[in-house]
Amino acid sequence: MAAPTAGPLVGGVVQETNSSRFLVFNPKTAELLGQHQVKISQELPQEEWVEQDPKEIIQSVYMSIEKTCEQLSQLDIDVSNIKAIGISNQRETTVVWDKLTGEPLYNAIAWLDLRTQSTVEKLSQKIPGNNNFVKSKTGLPLSTYFSAVKLRWLLDNVETVQAAVKEGRALFGTVDSWLIWNLTGGAQGGVHCTDVTNASRTMLFNIHSLEWDKELCAFFEIPMSILPSVCSSSEIYGQVKAGALEGVAISGCLGDQSAALVGQMCFQEGQAKNTYGAGCFLLCNTGHKCVFSDHGLVTTVAYKLGKDKPVCYALEGSVAIAGEVIRWLKDNLGIIDTSEDIEELAREAGTSFGCYFIPAFSGLYAPHWDPSARGIICGLTQFTNKSHIAFAALEAVCFQTREILDAMNRDCGIPLRHLQVDGKMTKNKILMQLQADILKIPVIKPTVADTTALGAAIAAGAAEGVGLWSLKPEDLSAVLVDQIEPQINAMESESRYSTWKKATAKSMGWIT
Ligand code: G3P
Repeated sequence: MAAPTAGPLVGGVVQETNSSRFLVFNPKTAELLGQHQVKISQELPQEEWVEQDPKEIIQSVYMSIEKTCEQLSQLDIDVSNIKAIGISNQRETTVVWDKLTGEPLYNAIAWLDLRTQSTVEKLSQKIPGNNNFVKSKTGLPLSTYFSAVKLRWLLDNVETVQAAVKEGRALFGTVDSWLIWNLTGGAQGGVHCTDVTNASRTMLFNIHSLEWDKELCAFFEIPMSILPSVCSSSEIYGQVKAGALEGVAISGCLGDQSAALVGQMCFQEGQAKNTYGAGCFLLCNTGHKCVFSDHGLVTTVAYKLGKDKPVCYALEGSVAIAGEVIRWLKDNLGIIDTSEDIEELAREAGTSFGCYFIPAFSGLYAPHWDPSARGIICGLTQFTNKSHIAFAALEAVCFQTREILDAMNRDCGIPLRHLQVDGKMTKNKILMQLQADILKIPVIKPTVADTTALGAAIAAGAAEGVGLWSLKPEDLSAVLVDQIEPQINAMESESRYSTWKKATAKSMGWIT
């Protein structure tokens, strides 16, 4: 960890599916000075339902802030030098709470949750012959993934939500809104806002006008009074009301995938990054142009770094299950004790021995968008053991990325010559080599491993009235790279990929 430093500092909160963490950076060098991570749980009350406790989410954020500040104090770094913090968060996950009591009115419905499949089917019937209605306004396909249908389910099924809406007490938010509202005072005057990147994942937000869309709200029957106000990704939303950071400005807010794009310095049109978290998300900056995909990708807001700054868009390939497959091997099959053990287990075999693993636990997202797909492991023989399955799980993450990259290349017309990667899984050397082999292009890792936190901190530091971080990539000399070259020949890579595609086809349409 770094030596004591004077001068202003900037923090980044990362609230993801499986953990929350807080990191503090020196904005002059992007040097990381302190960090703390707190794991959070998922609740699976029924098959296909995935929930999280909103109180556990906010507590884990408070805890990560307090612990990081304690760590800085022990290093003789004055915590009062932290001048601003940014929030980055798991997207789409939906929370409704009571603004008078501050209590959540139901668990958060997580992005991976599939309970809204019948809602999606009913809604699709409302727009026969006009499937483009939602996509043309939002950039998104009508899917269980996005917030509007989760909110619809809460309004249809939870009495406390219905009563609170009627009495004008209900507030809706994605996780960023829930965090900012609590951090800025909660029931005692908390700020109810979101940013354009998070709003663009709700299916209620018009990505052209950058406003909540009245027609979409009417279509999903969502009362607009419960929606947060929409801000840019970099401006002062409010101040932290209590704790070690009392009085510090909250001035950055981005969905985690947008934050990673910013943290990877992908500010130029055509630059792309892939983040390996619970899921895996490849975003390509398309500049000020809203590019629509013909190959199963979504169009999303990449960032808007200031009230008066222009918006930038991205094409995104969203893969539902990446790191989650490792968690599943650990928690459901018990073949590893810790997530890190996957590397050693996979190395024992060094091959999947013809075994293919399609982790379609939540259906398949991009480019297939098949909610009826389910996971399969195939190509098994009497020789197959847990080490082959571990290897196949890692390959699955890489093959899914290959599908996305192929779609991205077709949509953009200019193939990516390398892939910038980040996220916890990129520590796994086998995974990174497999990724380069399967993509047949180099994979590039930044030395600042947590680009999501860095992106949130950059947005916070760059806000008007904070002015601690310029956005020029050359000012961020700490973001150096490590490059992994493909090692297998193109024929072998293609042959493995075509067997993967055969296996994927078998997993699709499983639920009839
Ligand atoms: O869209 C969901 C995504 O934001 C979740 O991110 O990092 O928890 O996989 P992560």
